[in-house]
Amino acid sequence: MDYPELLEEIFHVARAFVGKGKVADYIPALARVPAEKFGIAISLLDGREYVMGDADESFSIQSVSKVFSLALALHHLGDQVWHRVGIEPSGNPFNSLVQLEYENGIPRNPFINAGALVVTDWLLGSSADPTTELLDWLRAATGNPHIGIDREVADSEWEHRHRNAALTHFMASCGNIRSNVDRVLRTYFEHCAIAMSCRDLARAGLVLAGHGKSPRLEERFLTRSQAKEINALMLTCGTYDAAGDFAFRVGLPGKSGVGGGILAVIPNLMSIAVWSPALDSHGNSMAGVEALERFTTLTGISVF
Ligand code: DON
Repeated sequence: MDYPELLEEIFHVARAFVGKGKVADYIPALARVPAEKFGIAISLLDGREYVMGDADESFSIQSVSKVFSLALALHHLGDQVWHRVGIEPSGNPFNSLVQLEYENGIPRNPFINAGALVVTDWLLGSSADPTTELLDWLRAATGNPHIGIDREVADSEWEHRHRNAALTHFMASCGNIRSNVDRVLRTYFEHCAIAMSCRDLARAGLVLAGHGKSPRLEERFLTRSQAKEINALMLTCGTYDAAGDFAFRVGLPGKSGVGGGILAVIPNLMSIAVWSPALDSHGNSMAGVEALERFTTLTGISVF
């Protein structure tokens, strides 16, 4: 496979979609990111790496962090995580409140906000400092010691926290949040505000391509089953209520964030990260989805 040529072609096609959607503005600090950015990175398990465009520029990974928070929770707690969060697509927007009341405060899956808030609550019960632990793991798995939190974004999320606060308080009223609600929210916002580049994300995603073993780390981080579970959830729930469309068009496990990043995984082979801040109506990067669709179409590689 001539990956540099492939990236050239994807870049060419996806650029036509750059800036077409809308940059997230419900968190004011995110609204300042230029819509014209576009980066792509692919990282293979054999060590090869190819990048194009703004692939080394850091951006707010937002909900892509939900993958890594879940991985850390499974690493510490194993299957008991699933006692308090489900594994089914929600069919609702990522910050929806409605389903939660019908379903007694048990979120549908760990990739909607309510689910990630429960995962964060699990982490607070199992680690003295989950944010530092998560950052340390990401730094080691990527070889980039500079990965950190964009405090301006985290503070902006805190200031505009009403909906996430409502979700967390409601779940606390059902007994499904055990730590202090404000602590859960602060920690969740820190994870969303982690800043990484496409190159970083693609490297970090190799733990999922590698069935739980990250090539840069000595120790296995997840069991094969846990890596499979996360990949399956990315496919069915990773792109909100557009997960069906994403599976249909791209055919890979993927997780998006409202910062415009998408992490996709090809088990046994590689991880791909794309970034372009303008989003479609579901909250997925418009040029990012286009680039991934083009990748699987041109290569014929998908999980199907
Ligand atoms: O909870 C929020 O609103 C954000 N910090 C996470 C947003 C996100 O990326 C989820 N959906 N795309």
